[in-house]
Amino acid sequence: MKNKIKLKINNQELTGSEGETILEVAARNGVEIPTLCHHPDFCDKGNCRVCVVEMKGNDRLVTSCSTKAGDGMEIITESEKIKKVRNVNIELIYAEHVEKCATCVWRFECKLLAFAQKYQTKIVRFEDRKKNRQIHKLKNALEIDGTQCIDCRNCISACQNLQKLDCLVMRGKGHGQEVDFRDNKKNPCILCGQCALHCPVSAIQEQTNYEDFEREVKNKEKTVVVILDPVMAVSIGENFDMKKVELNSVASALKQLGVNYVFNSALGVEINSYIQSEQILENDGKKLMIGSHCPATINYIKQYQPALADNLQKIKSPAIIMGGLIKTYWSDKLKLDPSKISVISIGVCVARKNEIVEKKTQFNGLWPVDYALTLRELSFLLKKNKLTLEKTKTKSIDALNGESTELFSASVFASILERLKSNNQINKINSEKGVHNFDEFILLQNEHGKELASLKGIGEINKIVDHMEKYSYLEIMSCPDGCFGGGGQPIPTTEELRKKRRHAFLAKKMPKNFSREKLDNQIVDILEWLSDNNLENKILFQ
Ligand code: SF4
Ligand code: SF4
Ligand code: FES
Repeated sequence: MKNKIKLKINNQELTGSEGETILEVAARNGVEIPTLCHHPDFCDKGNCRVCVVEMKGNDRLVTSCSTKAGDGMEIITESEKIKKVRNVNIELIYAEHVEKCATCVWRFECKLLAFAQKYQTKIVRFEDRKKNRQIHKLKNALEIDGTQCIDCRNCISACQNLQKLDCLVMRGKGHGQEVDFRDNKKNPCILCGQCALHCPVSAIQEQTNYEDFEREVKNKEKTVVVILDPVMAVSIGENFDMKKVELNSVASALKQLGVNYVFNSALGVEINSYIQSEQILENDGKKLMIGSHCPATINYIKQYQPALADNLQKIKSPAIIMGGLIKTYWSDKLKLDPSKISVISIGVCVARKNEIVEKKTQFNGLWPVDYALTLRELSFLLKKNKLTLEKTKTKSIDALNGESTELFSASVFASILERLKSNNQINKINSEKGVHNFDEFILLQNEHGKELASLKGIGEINKIVDHMEKYSYLEIMSCPDGCFGGGGQPIPTTEELRKKRRHAFLAKKMPKNFSREKLDNQIVDILEWLSDNNLENKILFQ
C-alpha cells in the first residue's frame, strides 16, 4: 500500500499516492495540463516541455509529466510565466517539425497543431532546423519523416519496451541526431506499427494510400469494394468525439465518397476460424499449430523464430480470404469482371499494407486486396470531406452471401473457442493467468491435455517460447491487446483505451436470430463453390 501525500494544485488541497507524478495527480482530479511527448505506456523523458508547471520554492518551471508529486508541494498550472515558457517551447518544437499539415493524415487530430491554435503561438518564429532531412521508408508500410521528428524517442520506447525489439536507432549527436530504422537484415522490423501509434506528431507513420483510394473511387471503369475490420467500430468514434459508432454508418459514409460496396471482414474471420477449428481437432495436439492471421506475427516468426515457421498455419488471413472471395465467388454471382474490381481493406493493421503485396497471396494473376488503409487514413478521408458517422437507417453494409455477417468474437481465436466450446471440446481453465494479455484454454479431447493459448503483444513472447511443448495451438497477435491496440488505431492508444475498446466490443449483444449453424451452412456453401471451381487452395491457403 503506497503512502498518501497531500499537495496543493492551483490552491486546491489534493491527495496523491507516493510515486505519482504531478500530472497524474492533476489528471485524476480533473486539472488539465497540456502534454505532447507524455505517453502512459512509458516512463517520461521530459522531452517536449509543454507540460511545465510552477512549483513553489523553484525558480525554474518543472515538467509535470516527469516530476513526482511530493507531500506539501504547491503547484500552479496556469500563469503568465508558464504561458510564456510553454509558448516558446511550442515554437521551438515547430522549428523541428516542418509544417506539412495540408497533406498530413493526422492534421485533424494533431495535438501540436491544436496547441498552436489554442495558445496562439507563432509557428514560424524560429527557422526550420530540419528542412533538409530525409524521409526513411521501410517496405511499403512505414516511413520516418526526419523533417517532422521532435526527438521525443517514443517510437524507440515502443519498439524496445513494448515489443521488446530493437529496430529503431537515434543516429548522430546533438542537433544532428535523427531517428532511423536499423539495418533491416540484422534487426528486422515486423511492421507492427506500434512506433507510429506512439509518435505524438506523426513523424513516423504508415505510408499512406488514401490517394489511391481517391483515384479508385473516381475511376468509372472500376467497381470499388471496401472490406472493413469490425473492431474499428469500437475505436473510430474516438476521432469523432462519439461514444458509439456502427459499422453501418462507416459504410454509409464510404458510399458517399463513391465506394460501390462495403463488406465487413467478419465472414473472412469465420471462414478462417471454421477451417482452423477442424484442423485443430484433426491434429489432436500432435503438432504445435500457430495461427497465421496476424501478418506482423508471421513477419516475427519468419525473422526471429525461423525454427517455428513450419508450425505456422497455411491458411490465409481473413482480409485476404475476403478479397479472394470478392474477386471470385461474389464477382461470379454479380457477373462482374474481377480485373475491374478494386478491393480496399480498411482496418487497424499497418503490417497488412505489406501482406497484400506478398506474391503468395496472388491467384490467377490477381491480387485479392489492392490497397490497405488504416483507420487513421479513413478518419482523415471522412473529415477532409466533412462526413460524419451519425446513425443511419439505410442498410449500407453489404452481404457477400445471404445476410451480412456480424463479428461477435473479439478475434479469430475467440471464434475458434466458440466453435470448440459449442462442441464440448474445450474447457476454459484460465483467462487472465496473471500474465498480461494471456489467455489459456485446455483442449479436453486431446489425450495429452495440451493447451490452446492466445498471446497478445509480441513483447510478451518470452513467457511462452521456453515451454512450447505445452501447447497444441497458439494465436499470437503482435500488438498489445491484439487488434484493440493495432498499429493503425487512433492516436493516442493507451492501455486504458485498449481495455475500453475491448469491453465495448465484448458488450455487443448477439441478435436474437443469430444462429451459428446457419452461419456455418453459409460457410459450407462457399467452400463447396470454391472446391467445385477448383479455387479452394488458391483463395484459402498459401
Ligand atoms: S513497426 Fe514495430 S517492429 Fe518495426 S520499428 Fe515500429 S515498433 Fe519496431
Ligand atoms: S519519430 Fe515521432 S516518436 Fe519518434 S522521436 Fe520523432 S517525434 Fe518522437
Ligand atoms: S509532456 Fe511532459 S515533457 Fe513532454
